Amino acid sequence: MKKRVGIEALAVAVPSRYVDIEDLARARGVDPAKFTSGLGAREMAVTDPGEDTVALAATAAARLIQQQGVDPSRIGMLVVGTETGIDHSKPVASHVQGLLKLPRTMRTFDTQHACYGGTAGLMAATEWIASGAGAGKVAIVICADIARYGLNTAGEPTQGGGAVALLVSEQPDLLALDVGLNGTCTMDVYDFWRPVGRREALVDGHYSINCYLEALSGAYRGWREKALEHGLVRWSGTMPGEQLARIAYHVPFCKMARKAHTQLRLCDLEDAVGPGPGTPEAREEVAKSSASYDAQVATSLGLNSRIGNVYTASLYLALAGLLQREGAQLASQRIGLLSYGSGCMAEFYSGVVGEKAAERMARADLEGVLARRERVSIEEYERLMKLPSDAPEAKAPAPGTFRLSEIRDHKRIYVEGGAA
Ligand code: CAA
Repeated sequence: MKKRVGIEALAVAVPSRYVDIEDLARARGVDPAKFTSGLGAREMAVTDPGEDTVALAATAAARLIQQQGVDPSRIGMLVVGTETGIDHSKPVASHVQGLLKLPRTMRTFDTQHACYGGTAGLMAATEWIASGAGAGKVAIVICADIARYGLNTAGEPTQGGGAVALLVSEQPDLLALDVGLNGTCTMDVYDFWRPVGRREALVDGHYSINCYLEALSGAYRGWREKALEHGLVRWSGTMPGEQLARIAYHVPFCKMARKAHTQLRLCDLEDAVGPGPGTPEAREEVAKSSASYDAQVATSLGLNSRIGNVYTASLYLALAGLLQREGAQLASQRIGLLSYGSGCMAEFYSGVVGEKAAERMARADLEGVLARRERVSIEEYERLMKLPSDAPEAKAPAPGTFRLSEIRDHKRIYVEGGAA
Protein backbone atom coordinates (compact mmCIF):
# COMPACT_ATOMS: atom_id res chain seq x y z
CA MET A 1 0.00 0.00 0.00
CA LYS A 2 1.19 3.54 -0.82
CA LYS A 3 2.41 5.45 2.26
CA ARG A 4 0.28 8.32 3.57
CA VAL A 5 2.64 11.28 3.91
CA GLY A 6 2.01 14.91 4.70
CA ILE A 7 1.80 17.59 7.36
CA GLU A 8 1.27 16.26 10.88
CA ALA A 9 1.28 19.60 12.73
CA LEU A 10 2.44 23.19 12.43
CA ALA A 11 3.53 26.15 14.56
CA VAL A 12 3.68 29.87 13.82
CA ALA A 13 6.13 32.55 15.04
CA VAL A 14 5.51 36.26 14.46
CA PRO A 15 7.51 39.39 15.25
CA SER A 16 6.67 41.00 18.58
CA ARG A 17 5.34 44.23 17.00
CA TYR A 18 2.87 45.28 14.32
CA VAL A 19 1.32 48.43 12.87
CA ASP A 20 -2.30 49.02 12.01
CA ILE A 21 -2.49 49.34 8.23
CA GLU A 22 -4.84 52.34 8.41
CA ASP A 23 -2.24 54.21 10.51
CA LEU A 24 0.29 53.53 7.74
CA ALA A 25 -2.11 54.75 5.06
CA ARG A 26 -2.82 57.99 6.92
CA ALA A 27 0.91 58.58 7.48
CA ARG A 28 1.51 58.18 3.74
CA GLY A 29 -1.43 60.41 2.76
CA VAL A 30 -3.25 57.49 1.12
CA ASP A 31 -6.97 56.70 1.40
CA PRO A 32 -7.04 53.85 4.00
CA ALA A 33 -9.56 52.01 1.78
CA LYS A 34 -6.76 51.43 -0.76
CA PHE A 35 -4.83 49.34 1.77
CA THR A 36 -7.85 47.70 3.44
CA SER A 37 -10.19 46.91 0.56
CA GLY A 38 -7.75 47.52 -2.34
CA LEU A 39 -5.02 45.24 -0.93
CA GLY A 40 -7.02 43.40 1.75
CA ALA A 41 -4.70 44.25 4.68
CA ARG A 42 -5.55 44.96 8.34
CA GLU A 43 -2.23 44.83 10.20
CA MET A 44 1.43 44.43 9.23
CA ALA A 45 4.15 42.67 11.25
CA VAL A 46 7.23 44.77 12.02
CA THR A 47 10.63 43.24 12.78
CA ASP A 48 13.69 44.77 14.40
CA PRO A 49 17.25 43.55 13.71
CA GLY A 50 17.06 41.21 16.74
CA GLU A 51 14.17 39.36 15.11
CA ASP A 52 16.01 38.07 12.07
CA THR A 53 15.18 35.02 9.98
CA VAL A 54 17.15 32.67 12.25
CA ALA A 55 15.40 33.96 15.38
CA LEU A 56 11.95 33.58 13.80
CA ALA A 57 12.76 30.12 12.37
CA ALA A 58 14.18 28.83 15.67
CA THR A 59 11.18 30.20 17.59
CA ALA A 60 8.72 28.46 15.25
CA ALA A 61 10.59 25.13 15.40
CA ALA A 62 10.95 25.24 19.20
CA ARG A 63 7.23 26.00 19.49
CA LEU A 64 6.36 23.10 17.17
CA ILE A 65 8.43 20.64 19.21
CA GLN A 66 7.05 21.89 22.53
CA GLN A 67 3.37 22.30 21.56
CA GLN A 68 3.10 19.02 19.68
CA GLY A 69 5.35 16.89 21.90
CA VAL A 70 7.80 15.97 19.12
CA ASP A 71 10.58 13.59 20.21
CA PRO A 72 13.74 15.26 18.77
CA SER A 73 15.42 11.89 18.24
CA ARG A 74 12.76 11.12 15.57
CA ILE A 75 13.83 14.10 13.41
CA GLY A 76 15.91 12.98 10.41
CA MET A 77 15.73 16.11 8.25
CA LEU A 78 15.52 19.85 8.92
CA VAL A 79 14.95 22.16 5.96
CA VAL A 80 14.56 25.95 6.01
CA GLY A 81 12.92 27.59 3.01
CA THR A 82 13.87 31.26 2.95
CA GLU A 83 14.82 34.12 0.62
CA THR A 84 16.07 36.29 3.47
CA GLY A 85 18.84 34.13 4.93
CA ILE A 86 21.68 35.69 6.91
CA ASP A 87 24.82 34.36 5.21
CA HIS A 88 25.93 33.45 1.70
CA SER A 89 27.15 30.08 2.92
CA LYS A 90 26.03 29.05 6.41
CA PRO A 91 22.39 27.96 6.28
CA VAL A 92 19.68 29.08 8.68
CA ALA A 93 18.99 25.37 9.25
CA SER A 94 22.40 24.89 10.89
CA HIS A 95 21.67 27.70 13.38
CA VAL A 96 18.32 26.10 14.22
CA GLN A 97 20.00 22.72 14.74
CA GLY A 98 22.44 24.27 17.20
CA LEU A 99 20.01 26.54 19.05
CA LEU A 100 17.52 23.71 19.58
CA LYS A 101 20.23 21.06 20.18
CA LEU A 102 18.68 18.81 17.53
CA PRO A 103 20.30 15.50 16.50
CA ARG A 104 23.66 15.69 14.74
CA THR A 105 22.55 12.74 12.60
CA MET A 106 19.97 14.93 10.78
CA ARG A 107 20.26 16.15 7.19
CA THR A 108 20.08 19.99 7.32
CA PHE A 109 19.92 22.49 4.47
CA ASP A 110 18.21 25.67 3.21
CA THR A 111 16.18 25.93 0.01
CA GLN A 112 15.87 29.12 -2.04
CA HIS A 113 13.60 30.12 -4.86
CA ALA A 114 11.95 33.36 -3.68
CA CYS A 115 8.60 32.61 -2.00
CA TYR A 116 8.59 29.06 -3.43
CA GLY A 117 11.57 27.93 -1.29
CA GLY A 118 9.39 26.57 1.53
CA THR A 119 7.35 24.43 -0.84
CA ALA A 120 10.57 23.12 -2.39
CA GLY A 121 11.58 22.03 1.12
CA LEU A 122 8.17 20.51 1.85
CA MET A 123 8.27 18.46 -1.35
CA ALA A 124 11.86 17.29 -0.69
CA ALA A 125 10.84 16.14 2.80
CA THR A 126 7.61 14.53 1.59
CA GLU A 127 9.30 12.62 -1.22
CA TRP A 128 12.14 11.57 1.14
CA ILE A 129 9.58 10.00 3.46
CA ALA A 130 7.36 8.59 0.68
CA SER A 131 10.38 6.91 -0.98
CA GLY A 132 11.18 5.04 2.21
CA ALA A 133 14.59 6.77 2.50
CA GLY A 134 13.46 8.42 5.73
CA ALA A 135 13.19 4.96 7.36
CA GLY A 136 10.46 6.03 9.78
CA LYS A 137 12.00 9.39 10.71
CA VAL A 138 10.11 12.70 10.49
CA ALA A 139 11.16 16.02 8.93
CA ILE A 140 10.75 19.61 10.04
CA VAL A 141 10.36 22.17 7.26
CA ILE A 142 10.52 25.81 8.33
CA CYS A 143 9.35 28.63 6.06
CA ALA A 144 10.84 31.87 7.47
CA ASP A 145 11.18 35.33 5.96
CA ILE A 146 11.14 39.08 6.44
CA ALA A 147 9.36 40.88 3.59
CA ARG A 148 10.94 44.30 3.19
CA TYR A 149 10.52 46.83 0.36
CA GLY A 150 11.41 50.01 2.25
CA LEU A 151 9.75 53.17 3.50
CA ASN A 152 7.54 55.10 1.08
CA THR A 153 7.61 52.45 -1.66
CA ALA A 154 4.57 50.98 -3.42
CA GLY A 155 5.39 47.64 -1.78
CA GLU A 156 5.52 49.13 1.73
CA PRO A 157 1.96 48.11 2.77
CA THR A 158 2.72 44.53 1.64
CA GLN A 159 5.65 43.95 4.01
CA GLY A 160 5.62 41.56 6.99
CA GLY A 161 7.63 38.81 8.65
CA GLY A 162 7.40 35.53 10.53
CA ALA A 163 7.86 31.78 10.26
CA VAL A 164 5.77 28.63 9.96
CA ALA A 165 7.29 25.29 11.02
CA LEU A 166 5.76 22.14 9.51
CA LEU A 167 6.14 18.63 10.90
CA VAL A 168 6.17 16.22 7.94
CA SER A 169 5.58 12.53 8.61
CA GLU A 170 3.65 9.35 7.88
CA GLN A 171 0.96 10.54 10.31
CA PRO A 172 -0.53 13.47 8.36
CA ASP A 173 -3.02 14.68 10.98
CA LEU A 174 -3.35 18.07 9.25
CA LEU A 175 -3.02 17.25 5.55
CA ALA A 176 -2.25 13.99 3.68
CA LEU A 177 -0.64 15.08 0.39
CA ASP A 178 -1.59 13.61 -3.00
CA VAL A 179 2.06 12.72 -3.65
CA GLY A 180 3.09 12.79 -7.30
CA LEU A 181 0.09 14.71 -8.62
CA ASN A 182 1.66 18.18 -8.36
CA GLY A 183 1.56 20.56 -11.32
CA THR A 184 4.54 22.85 -11.88
CA CYS A 185 5.36 25.86 -14.05
CA THR A 186 8.61 27.81 -14.24
CA MET A 187 9.62 30.86 -16.33
CA ASP A 188 12.77 33.04 -16.37
CA VAL A 189 11.40 36.49 -15.47
CA TYR A 190 12.52 39.58 -13.53
CA ASP A 191 9.35 40.30 -11.56
CA PHE A 192 10.88 40.52 -8.06
CA TRP A 193 14.51 40.14 -7.03
CA ARG A 194 17.07 41.18 -4.39
CA PRO A 195 20.64 41.57 -5.63
CA VAL A 196 23.32 40.26 -3.24
CA GLY A 197 24.01 42.77 -0.46
CA ARG A 198 20.68 44.59 -0.70
CA ARG A 199 18.32 44.57 2.27
CA GLU A 200 15.24 45.66 0.30
CA ALA A 201 13.68 43.69 -2.52
CA LEU A 202 13.25 45.23 -5.96
CA VAL A 203 9.95 44.55 -7.65
CA ASP A 204 8.10 45.29 -10.85
CA GLY A 205 4.81 45.22 -8.94
CA HIS A 206 2.10 45.02 -11.61
CA TYR A 207 4.22 42.76 -13.83
CA SER A 208 4.79 40.45 -10.83
CA ILE A 209 1.03 40.02 -10.50
CA ASN A 210 0.81 38.98 -14.17
CA CYS A 211 3.73 36.53 -13.76
CA TYR A 212 2.00 34.98 -10.72
CA LEU A 213 -1.24 34.53 -12.69
CA GLU A 214 0.48 33.06 -15.75
CA ALA A 215 2.52 30.61 -13.67
CA LEU A 216 -0.57 29.68 -11.67
CA SER A 217 -2.36 28.76 -14.92
CA GLY A 218 0.45 26.41 -15.96
CA ALA A 219 0.75 24.79 -12.53
CA TYR A 220 -3.00 24.38 -12.05
CA ARG A 221 -3.49 22.85 -15.50
CA GLY A 222 -0.62 20.42 -14.77
CA TRP A 223 -2.24 19.32 -11.50
CA ARG A 224 -5.70 19.13 -13.09
CA GLU A 225 -4.51 16.80 -15.85
CA LYS A 226 -3.14 14.33 -13.29
CA ALA A 227 -6.09 14.76 -10.91
CA LEU A 228 -8.52 13.97 -13.77
CA GLU A 229 -6.48 10.90 -14.70
CA HIS A 230 -6.60 9.64 -11.10
CA GLY A 231 -10.32 10.39 -10.71
CA LEU A 232 -9.84 13.07 -8.03
CA VAL A 233 -11.93 15.54 -10.06
CA ARG A 234 -14.18 15.26 -13.14
CA TRP A 235 -15.40 17.34 -16.06
CA SER A 236 -19.02 16.85 -15.11
CA GLY A 237 -21.52 18.76 -13.00
CA THR A 238 -19.27 21.40 -11.47
CA MET A 239 -15.86 22.51 -12.80
CA PRO A 240 -12.76 20.59 -11.52
CA GLY A 241 -11.56 23.54 -9.42
CA GLU A 242 -14.96 23.75 -7.74
CA GLN A 243 -14.61 20.15 -6.60
CA LEU A 244 -11.87 21.15 -4.14
CA ALA A 245 -13.43 22.04 -0.78
CA ARG A 246 -11.06 25.01 -0.34
CA ILE A 247 -8.02 26.47 -2.12
CA ALA A 248 -5.15 28.14 -0.24
CA TYR A 249 -3.03 30.49 -2.35
CA HIS A 250 0.33 32.19 -1.93
CA VAL A 251 -0.70 35.54 -0.40
CA PRO A 252 1.71 38.46 -1.01
CA PHE A 253 -1.31 40.64 -0.07
CA CYS A 254 -4.82 39.34 0.54
CA LYS A 255 -6.40 40.77 -2.61
CA MET A 256 -3.98 38.61 -4.64
CA ALA A 257 -5.82 35.48 -3.47
CA ARG A 258 -8.99 36.83 -5.09
CA LYS A 259 -7.15 37.54 -8.36
CA ALA A 260 -5.59 34.06 -8.22
CA HIS A 261 -8.95 32.39 -7.69
CA THR A 262 -10.47 34.25 -10.64
CA GLN A 263 -7.55 33.06 -12.80
CA LEU A 264 -7.95 29.44 -11.70
CA ARG A 265 -11.65 29.55 -12.57
CA LEU A 266 -10.82 31.12 -15.94
CA CYS A 267 -8.54 28.13 -16.69
CA ASP A 268 -11.47 25.76 -16.09
CA LEU A 269 -13.92 27.94 -18.05
CA GLU A 270 -11.56 28.26 -21.03
CA ASP A 271 -10.80 24.54 -21.14
CA ALA A 272 -14.30 23.22 -20.45
CA VAL A 273 -15.86 21.10 -23.17
CA GLY A 274 -19.51 21.67 -24.00
CA PRO A 275 -21.64 24.76 -23.59
CA GLY A 276 -20.41 27.41 -21.19
CA PRO A 277 -20.09 31.17 -21.12
CA GLY A 278 -19.15 31.88 -24.76
CA THR A 279 -17.36 35.22 -24.89
CA PRO A 280 -14.19 36.11 -22.96
CA GLU A 281 -16.21 38.85 -21.19
CA ALA A 282 -18.86 36.36 -20.08
CA ARG A 283 -16.19 33.94 -18.85
CA GLU A 284 -14.48 36.74 -16.91
CA GLU A 285 -17.80 37.59 -15.24
CA VAL A 286 -18.38 33.97 -14.13
CA ALA A 287 -14.74 33.56 -13.03
CA LYS A 288 -15.02 36.61 -10.74
CA SER A 289 -17.90 35.03 -8.77
CA SER A 290 -17.84 36.37 -5.21
CA ALA A 291 -19.86 33.37 -4.05
CA SER A 292 -17.10 31.01 -5.21
CA TYR A 293 -14.38 33.16 -3.59
CA ASP A 294 -16.32 33.37 -0.32
CA ALA A 295 -16.93 29.62 -0.29
CA GLN A 296 -13.49 28.38 -1.35
CA VAL A 297 -10.93 31.05 -0.36
CA ALA A 298 -12.00 33.82 2.03
CA THR A 299 -11.80 31.81 5.26
CA SER A 300 -8.08 31.13 4.76
CA LEU A 301 -6.99 34.77 4.94
CA GLY A 302 -7.40 35.67 8.64
CA LEU A 303 -3.73 35.36 9.58
CA ASN A 304 -2.38 36.85 6.33
CA SER A 305 -4.49 39.98 6.78
CA ARG A 306 -2.98 40.51 10.26
CA ILE A 307 0.68 39.68 9.51
CA GLY A 308 1.29 40.74 5.89
CA ASN A 309 3.56 39.02 3.41
CA VAL A 310 5.93 36.39 4.82
CA TYR A 311 7.26 35.27 1.42
CA THR A 312 7.91 31.48 1.82
CA ALA A 313 5.50 31.22 4.75
CA SER A 314 2.56 33.08 3.20
CA LEU A 315 0.90 29.99 1.72
CA TYR A 316 1.40 28.11 4.98
CA LEU A 317 -0.11 30.99 6.98
CA ALA A 318 -3.14 30.65 4.70
CA LEU A 319 -3.24 26.89 5.38
CA ALA A 320 -2.88 27.54 9.12
CA GLY A 321 -5.63 30.20 9.06
CA LEU A 322 -7.92 27.87 7.12
CA LEU A 323 -7.44 24.87 9.42
CA GLN A 324 -7.65 27.05 12.52
CA ARG A 325 -11.11 28.19 11.43
CA GLU A 326 -12.44 25.18 9.59
CA GLY A 327 -10.30 22.19 10.57
CA ALA A 328 -13.23 20.24 12.02
CA GLN A 329 -15.68 20.67 9.12
CA LEU A 330 -12.99 20.06 6.47
CA ALA A 331 -11.93 16.68 7.91
CA SER A 332 -11.62 14.07 5.09
CA GLN A 333 -12.14 16.72 2.39
CA ARG A 334 -9.66 17.52 -0.40
CA ILE A 335 -8.19 21.02 -0.65
CA GLY A 336 -5.85 22.63 -3.21
CA LEU A 337 -2.73 24.71 -2.55
CA LEU A 338 -0.87 27.09 -4.87
CA SER A 339 2.71 28.10 -4.14
CA TYR A 340 4.36 30.93 -6.12
CA GLY A 341 7.92 32.20 -6.05
CA SER A 342 9.11 35.09 -8.19
CA GLY A 343 11.72 34.53 -10.80
CA CYS A 344 9.55 32.35 -11.17
CA MET A 345 8.09 29.05 -10.12
CA ALA A 346 4.55 27.93 -9.28
CA GLU A 347 3.40 24.58 -7.93
CA PHE A 348 -0.20 23.46 -7.45
CA TYR A 349 -0.83 20.46 -5.23
CA SER A 350 -3.62 18.93 -3.20
CA GLY A 351 -4.23 16.94 -0.05
CA VAL A 352 -6.91 15.58 2.24
CA VAL A 353 -7.50 17.26 5.60
CA GLY A 354 -6.95 14.88 8.55
CA GLU A 355 -9.50 13.87 11.16
CA LYS A 356 -7.34 15.37 13.92
CA ALA A 357 -6.75 18.73 12.22
CA ALA A 358 -8.87 20.75 14.67
CA GLU A 359 -7.20 19.14 17.69
CA ARG A 360 -3.70 19.75 16.28
CA MET A 361 -4.53 23.38 15.43
CA ALA A 362 -5.90 24.04 18.91
CA ARG A 363 -2.46 23.13 20.31
CA ALA A 364 -0.85 25.71 17.99
CA ASP A 365 -2.67 28.52 19.91
CA LEU A 366 -2.59 30.96 16.98
CA GLU A 367 -4.88 33.49 18.69
CA GLY A 368 -2.47 33.55 21.65
CA VAL A 369 0.53 34.03 19.34
CA LEU A 370 -1.09 37.12 17.75
CA ALA A 371 -2.48 38.49 21.02
CA ARG A 372 1.00 38.74 22.57
CA ARG A 373 2.13 41.29 19.94
CA GLU A 374 2.48 45.01 20.64
CA ARG A 375 0.91 47.61 18.34
CA VAL A 376 3.41 50.38 17.56
CA SER A 377 3.09 53.85 16.06
CA ILE A 378 4.30 54.70 12.55
CA GLU A 379 7.14 56.76 14.12
CA GLU A 380 8.33 53.66 16.03
CA TYR A 381 7.98 51.47 12.90
CA GLU A 382 10.09 53.95 10.91
CA ARG A 383 12.71 54.06 13.67
CA LEU A 384 12.94 50.23 13.68
CA MET A 385 13.17 50.11 9.87
CA LYS A 386 16.14 52.50 9.92
CA LEU A 387 18.20 50.46 12.42
CA PRO A 388 21.25 48.80 10.83
CA SER A 389 20.75 45.06 10.40
CA ASP A 390 24.01 44.18 12.17
CA ALA A 391 23.39 46.12 15.40
CA PRO A 392 20.43 44.62 17.26
CA GLU A 393 19.05 46.63 20.17
CA ALA A 394 19.44 45.11 23.62
CA LYS A 395 16.02 43.61 24.42
CA ALA A 396 15.19 40.48 26.40
CA PRO A 397 13.48 37.87 24.23
CA ALA A 398 9.95 36.94 25.30
CA PRO A 399 9.61 33.51 26.92
CA GLY A 400 10.00 30.72 24.37
CA THR A 401 11.43 32.99 21.65
CA PHE A 402 14.92 33.61 20.27
CA ARG A 403 16.66 36.92 19.45
CA LEU A 404 19.90 37.90 17.78
CA SER A 405 21.87 39.61 20.57
CA GLU A 406 25.10 40.58 18.82
CA ILE A 407 27.47 39.85 15.93
CA ARG A 408 30.95 39.06 17.24
CA ASP A 409 33.82 38.39 14.80
CA HIS A 410 31.20 37.96 12.05
CA LYS A 411 29.50 35.27 14.14
CA ARG A 412 25.85 35.68 15.08
CA ILE A 413 25.01 35.14 18.76
CA TYR A 414 21.42 34.32 19.76
CA VAL A 415 19.70 34.26 23.13
CA GLU A 416 16.57 32.42 24.19
CA GLY A 417 13.83 33.79 26.45
CA GLY A 418 13.02 31.84 29.64
CA ALA A 419 10.41 29.08 29.84
CA ALA A 420 7.28 29.72 27.71
N1 CAA B 1 -10.21 52.45 -2.31
C1 CAA B 1 -10.33 51.14 -2.60
N2 CAA B 1 -9.49 50.50 -3.46
C2 CAA B 1 -8.49 51.22 -4.03
C3 CAA B 1 -8.35 52.60 -3.76
C4 CAA B 1 -9.26 53.22 -2.87
N3 CAA B 1 -9.16 54.52 -2.57
N4 CAA B 1 -7.28 53.06 -4.47
C5 CAA B 1 -6.79 51.99 -5.16
N5 CAA B 1 -7.53 50.88 -4.88
C6 CAA B 1 -7.32 49.52 -5.37
C7 CAA B 1 -6.90 49.45 -6.82
O1 CAA B 1 -8.02 49.51 -7.70
C8 CAA B 1 -6.19 48.11 -6.85
O2 CAA B 1 -7.13 47.06 -6.87
P1 CAA B 1 -7.18 46.09 -8.17
O3 CAA B 1 -5.80 45.48 -8.31
O4 CAA B 1 -8.20 45.08 -7.82
O5 CAA B 1 -7.52 46.96 -9.33
C9 CAA B 1 -5.54 48.03 -5.47
O6 CAA B 1 -6.22 48.99 -4.66
C10 CAA B 1 -4.06 48.39 -5.49
O7 CAA B 1 -3.91 49.62 -6.15
P2 CAA B 1 -2.69 49.89 -7.14
O8 CAA B 1 -2.56 48.74 -8.08
O9 CAA B 1 -2.83 51.24 -7.71
O10 CAA B 1 -1.52 49.86 -6.06
P3 CAA B 1 0.02 50.15 -6.26
O11 CAA B 1 0.38 50.31 -7.68
O12 CAA B 1 0.36 51.26 -5.34
O13 CAA B 1 0.74 48.84 -5.65
C11 CAA B 1 1.28 46.52 -5.63
C12 CAA B 1 0.16 47.56 -5.53
C13 CAA B 1 1.79 46.43 -7.06
C14 CAA B 1 0.71 45.17 -5.19
C15 CAA B 1 2.45 46.93 -4.69
O14 CAA B 1 2.02 46.96 -3.35
C16 CAA B 1 3.65 46.01 -4.79
O15 CAA B 1 4.51 46.19 -5.64
N6 CAA B 1 3.76 45.00 -3.87
C17 CAA B 1 4.88 44.05 -3.87
C18 CAA B 1 4.84 43.07 -5.03
C19 CAA B 1 3.80 41.99 -4.88
O16 CAA B 1 3.28 41.72 -3.80
N7 CAA B 1 3.52 41.28 -5.99
C20 CAA B 1 2.60 40.17 -5.97
C21 CAA B 1 2.91 39.11 -7.03
S1 CAA B 1 4.62 38.55 -6.83
C22 CAA B 1 4.54 37.46 -5.52
O17 CAA B 1 3.50 36.99 -5.14
C23 CAA B 1 5.82 37.11 -4.83
C24 CAA B 1 5.88 37.88 -3.56
O18 CAA B 1 5.46 37.38 -2.49
C25 CAA B 1 6.44 39.21 -3.57
